[in-house]
Amino acid sequence: MTALPTDNPDVVAYRVENRIAWVKFNRPDKRNAQSPNLNRRMAEILDELEHRDDVGVLVLTGEGQAWSAGMDLKEYFRESAGKGLEGTRRAQRQAYRWWEQLRFYQKPTIAMVNGWCFGGAYGPLYACDIAVAADEAQFGLSEINWGILPGGGATKVATNSMPFRKAMYHAMMGENLTGQQAAAQGLVTESVPLAQLEARVTEIANVLLKKNPTALKATKDAVRRVMEMTYDNAEDYLIRAQEAADSFDKEGRMEGMKQFLDDKTYKPGLGAYDKDRAKS
Ligand code: COA
Repeated sequence: MTALPTDNPDVVAYRVENRIAWVKFNRPDKRNAQSPNLNRRMAEILDELEHRDDVGVLVLTGEGQAWSAGMDLKEYFRESAGKGLEGTRRAQRQAYRWWEQLRFYQKPTIAMVNGWCFGGAYGPLYACDIAVAADEAQFGLSEINWGILPGGGATKVATNSMPFRKAMYHAMMGENLTGQQAAAQGLVTESVPLAQLEARVTEIANVLLKKNPTALKATKDAVRRVMEMTYDNAEDYLIRAQEAADSFDKEGRMEGMKQFLDDKTYKPGLGAYDKDRAKS
């Protein structure tokens, strides 16, 4: 498929440091609203980072006061609709494509929610494996406040993440949740004061970096997949998924067993085996 040009590549910023890729929504003056241009650029960057050996974890965060104020009402909704059905569908595809890529990303992903998080931002929020919010962040399905339903998967994000009564209230009332409320209702994994957010995310990323990457990818996909399966289907899927993972890295778990059973250098109940020792 022909890629559309990215008019301004700066709408997403990124750097890689100590095996962590820090990717930022970078339209702070527009509260990091997702324009078609931003969505195209994000897809390019995710593509570039996905298989890099120097990247072990990806963190998605926002520049300025917002994580992302959702879809850009002007560029994503109004201007795309002005180009007819094709304009709307094209804009939807550009957004949904990178959210889907992120849901099943090769590397573990962490949403570091530093501020406003509305509507269309729930797609990438849910796509990240772990979500850590600032207590000061604000989460809202604001769609009802401007006259539409929470689309782009946002309603599904709410019902998959929150209990029914909380999701219904959240979708209908257009009231915001703080980071702590979002954590209590299941929308994010946890919430910490903004001043500690980056340190906490770095701590989580560093734990993930120590795990076997093949096992992590198999695990994160399994959690998403089994949610929609019966118990028996899930049990069968998990057997097949481990066998498939073995075809890429059987040595990993053999080494994990060896370091516990023979070398007695670690306990799986208390931490990960030393995967670097396995290679040396
Ligand atoms: N789409 C388009 N533009 C947006 C936007 C969005 N989702 N969110 C913010 N912006 C723009 C504003 O229009 C404004 O542009 P301007 O400087 O050219 O006038 C700029 O970003 C700053 O926004 P402002 O509203 O002045 O910032 P604030 O800090 O006072 O308020 C929000 C922040 C997030 C509460 C507010 O911008 C807002 O409600 N945004 C819409 C959120 C929303 O409903 N998103 C769901 C979309 S699915």
